[in-house]
Amino acid sequence: MVIKEAKFISSNTEVAKCPETKLPEYAFIGRSNVGKSSLINMLTERTKLAKTSSLPGKTQLINHFLINDSWYLVDLPGYGWARVSQTSREKWSKMVKAYLGKRENLACVFLLIDSRLEPQKTDLEFIQVLGEMGVPFVLVFTKTDKQSVQKTQMNIATFKRTLLQTWEELPRLFITSSTEKKGRDEILDFIAETNEE
Ligand code: GTP
Ligand code: MG
Repeated sequence: MVIKEAKFISSNTEVAKCPETKLPEYAFIGRSNVGKSSLINMLTERTKLAKTSSLPGKTQLINHFLINDSWYLVDLPGYGWARVSQTSREKWSKMVKAYLGKRENLACVFLLIDSRLEPQKTDLEFIQVLGEMGVPFVLVFTKTDKQSVQKTQMNIATFKRTLLQTWEELPRLFITSSTEKKGRDEILDFIAETNEE
């Protein structure tokens, strides 16, 4: 798929204020600093469309980007950053759960996982939430350029094994690096396929 146009539309704290639309949207979520905003820039080939930072907690709002006038990418704030107050955590949880539960045009959630880490409790808990809410999701393993192919494969195998302890089936998996543009074609093809349905 060719990305002809990628436009920033809005930033919101509430799902009720998000763009009114029937166009499908794909939301990016995961721990703070996992690379959600970077992946949106990599997919759209726009270096500054979504704001990124080396410090966790950069994205704080629900950000909508309209692609080719036909579907949206949504950048969400991350979870799991240790230095966040209980109040902010609760605010995050309320906002994201309202978004996931109420956004009718949400086609799929891309849950980003840092490929360098052992399975994280916060990620496994969030997968549980998605499952319980019946939200369709896929997993995206990020930052694979930062380690060997073998290490990535090993960590993904461990993650799969962990998931299979509670899930009968595994979700679709993507392996990415935003710096090397790895996984771009696969994710865009997946979006194109689901858009046709
Ligand atoms: P929050 O908005 O804070 O939740 O973070 P985020 O998940 O949007 O992360 P962001 O895209 O801002 O990236 C965090 C840091 O990781 C930045 O310094 C990025 O340059 C870096 N980064 C993201 N993806 C990759 C990648 O694939 N490879 C490498 N080497 N660095 C990456
Ligand atoms: Mg971000």
